[in-house]
Amino acid sequence: MSLRTCLAVVLAAGDSTRMKSSMSKVLHPVGGRPMIAHVMQAVKDAGIANIALVTGRDADRVTDAAKIGGLEVQSYFQSERKGTGHAVLMAKEAIASGYDDILVAYGDVPLLTAGPLKAAREKLAEGHDVVVIGFHTANPYGYGRLLVENGELTAIREEKDASEEERKVTWCNSGLMAISGAKALDLLSRITNNNAKGEFYLTDLVEIARTLGGKVTAVDAPEDELTGCNTRAELAVIERMWQARRRHELMLSGVSMIAPETVFLCHDTVIGQDTLIEPNVVFGPGVVIEGNVVIHAFSHLEGAHVSEGASVGPYARLRPGANLAKDAKVGNFCEVKKAEIGEGAKVNHLTYIGDAFVGAHANIGAGTITCNYDGVNKHITRIGEGAFIGSNSSLVAPVSVGNGALVASGSVITDDVPDDALALARGRQELKPGRAKVIRERNLAIKAAKKAK
Ligand code: UD1
Ligand code: CA
Repeated sequence: MSLRTCLAVVLAAGDSTRMKSSMSKVLHPVGGRPMIAHVMQAVKDAGIANIALVTGRDADRVTDAAKIGGLEVQSYFQSERKGTGHAVLMAKEAIASGYDDILVAYGDVPLLTAGPLKAAREKLAEGHDVVVIGFHTANPYGYGRLLVENGELTAIREEKDASEEERKVTWCNSGLMAISGAKALDLLSRITNNNAKGEFYLTDLVEIARTLGGKVTAVDAPEDELTGCNTRAELAVIERMWQARRRHELMLSGVSMIAPETVFLCHDTVIGQDTLIEPNVVFGPGVVIEGNVVIHAFSHLEGAHVSEGASVGPYARLRPGANLAKDAKVGNFCEVKKAEIGEGAKVNHLTYIGDAFVGAHANIGAGTITCNYDGVNKHITRIGEGAFIGSNSSLVAPVSVGNGALVASGSVITDDVPDDALALARGRQELKPGRAKVIRERNLAIKAAKKAK
């Protein structure tokens, strides 16, 4: 990394009209995280710590969303949208404080990584005054075109200002640009709004710098990192691209997926080596899966920690605070919320465990419910090590079942069960010999009488 200082100016003052939303588009999530946070991550990964954010709509919320991982973000409000050149000048004060490099990025390109930003800064270090980050695309409509003469970048022409011939150019402006810090304010102040849209175009810097004898160039970046988001349809495309990228990274790190295209990840999903993710699994925020785990099909996880050797699903739901120790099992149609499931413990069928502690090697029978809510407050259930809860039992919290205790199936447990005790809390069975036969014959007679009528 160079020792040059850098200020990133991130533009996010747009009205997001085409999003048809009650909030700024940069707040819409990709991989469970606002778009603007992804851009900030790329800036951070490029080693840039000084950030000026130009905001308009939802200024406070956008600024908050941009402050990832304690990043220092200075926000500048653009009250009127007069173009990208005008927007960058909102951060005049920051630019004037003297940086070697000024990097301009947009808030609506969430697939961006540090790569293109670093490449552009390298060109500044080599002595260029303006470096444009460009990309090649089969569908250049709407983008500014990079015009080249004798191998040199001479201008960027906006779609609306371009001639028929210029519109055929497929080399496009991503909108990301690096500018020499020493020259930035002088260059920016020369931008005028003499164009088809009547806006101050940042892109005019290319011609302005050349006129003044400055050095201008472009670096290429992959199109899929620079895809911008204007509509919800584009948001869905970007989400798909983000998911594909993240799954790929996880698979390369040693995670197996049988049908990766059906697995949905969150920006902070952590999955260890040799873990298998079966089809149709959804990860919400805050999930950590250690190594050698199996997440069976159709499971939904959020805010959960799953330790080495554990197994989840199929059709399991782990909600925030679910914490599975080593080799624990949570099986089909089970829901776990804010509960510790001890080492090797089994919660295998049709069960709800909430606000609970389940000891190591306990066995929770099918259909067990922790009744944790009285309609007003939540209460805790404690189940001891090696305890056995018979099927179809209700544990009415607050309550505890001791180590090695046995709860008979069908029990409604309202009082604590001591260690190694057996608790039976259900109606006693009565037997009436021959009675079933009597009832059956009576019912058959009624049926026959009806038919005869
Ligand atoms: C811009 C570029 C174009 C490039 C394209 C890439 C200019 C003149 N054109 O066009 O060459 O191919 O991006 O997507 O720069 N913004 C503000 N304040 C403003 C105007 C814009 O904050 O006054 C922000 C927007 O919120 C957005 C970004 O700047 O994040 C780009 O503005 P937009 O109007 O979308 O520019 P394009 O016409 O797409
Ligand atoms: Ca745009």
